[in-house]
Amino acid sequence: MNMLSATLSRVKPSPTIAVSSKAAEMKAAGEDVIGLGAGEPDFDTPDNIKAAGIRAIEEGKTKYTAPDGIPELKQAICTKFKRENGLDYVPAQVSVGTGGKQILYNALMATLNPGDEVVIPAPYWVSYPDMVLLAGGEPVIAEASMQTGYKLTPDQLEAAITPKTKWFIFNSPSNPTGAGYSWDELKALTDVLLRHPHVMIMTDDMYEHLVFDDFEFCTPAQVEPALYDRTLTCNGVSKAYAMTGWRIGYAAGPEKLIAAMRKIQSQSTSNPSSISQWAAVEALNGPQDFLASNNATFVRRRDLVVKMLNEAEGITCPTPEGAFYVYPSIAEIIGKTSPRGTVIENDEGFATALLEETGVAVVFGAAFGLSPNFRVSYATSDEALKEACTRIQKFCASLT
Ligand SMILES: Cc1ncc(COP(=O)(O)O)c(C=O)c1O
Repeated sequence: MNMLSATLSRVKPSPTIAVSSKAAEMKAAGEDVIGLGAGEPDFDTPDNIKAAGIRAIEEGKTKYTAPDGIPELKQAICTKFKRENGLDYVPAQVSVGTGGKQILYNALMATLNPGDEVVIPAPYWVSYPDMVLLAGGEPVIAEASMQTGYKLTPDQLEAAITPKTKWFIFNSPSNPTGAGYSWDELKALTDVLLRHPHVMIMTDDMYEHLVFDDFEFCTPAQVEPALYDRTLTCNGVSKAYAMTGWRIGYAAGPEKLIAAMRKIQSQSTSNPSSISQWAAVEALNGPQDFLASNNATFVRRRDLVVKMLNEAEGITCPTPEGAFYVYPSIAEIIGKTSPRGTVIENDEGFATALLEETGVAVVFGAAFGLSPNFRVSYATSDEALKEACTRIQKFCASLT
């Protein structure tokens, strides 16, 4: 009996699972493991947002809602887009889903036909290529290099576009590199997209608020208003508001696309949690001042990690503009041998040896489509980061 679908066979199991389950096993066995793999802030959800969730429960706002969001949240999202991005949207152009993940997935499911291509810059968030495959499309990977700060150049984008291209997925600041495109860098890409009117733009702005120093966030429809009609601007409350478990993501774009996404959601999950939606209204409409203090913590940790990793023999670590990740290169380490006799053949081998021999868990670069690298999430305490980076330094110094 062939129990599983042919579509599912196109999708690979998450490459990050091997390392994370190994780390969990070691921890359970009482070993001293420091995890630098988490994709979520270590801060708690702010109290005013929690209170809004509790209030929603007490007031009985616990029933089904419209499948793609309550009017109050859609309005708060329109207000947010105007206030923070200078973008005009009306509620009929807004979709709310169970996390940013569902929003992206709905959009791909709503639009891809077999053979349609989706241009994805690498390093990429692990889910993009597999979501495209699940939706029946073909991921086309355009590799950015460390030399350009892990940012795609206009020539690379131009070269990746074909007559079959349906979407260009853009993510700034990026998971896994933290790279953020400046206005000019993004304008250079939108200029390319203007020349290809058949390509739609899916921008994943999940890390919009996690930007450091004097970096200013911008998004494609803002930088090039002529792309407004073919851009889906995706965002969510997960990262900025420390609400990963509440599961609220949203997007705004062409009404026809939003209606198609609503159709999919109404026949699959229906509405995201009513309680979480009310909490998200408070997140977007309430005070935003904690963002700056969270960012001050993140920037201190980023600087600590970048400095200590660059001091490690064979590691080169660029300083990213945002998110809470760094993506160092280990090109100089490939071919070396660890104290326990493992030859480091690739970044997966590096991450495995690092975990087994020092107890530090990181995610290897091949999972994100660019090697040899690894991703560190610095959304953890300064003490844990210092200890982890000291272990990485010692491990690198011990390689022969
Ligand atoms: C770039 C990017 N987009 C989307 C998501 C999904 O966010 P959510 O938790 O809201 O589904 C993540 C989460 O890791 C992410 O890193």
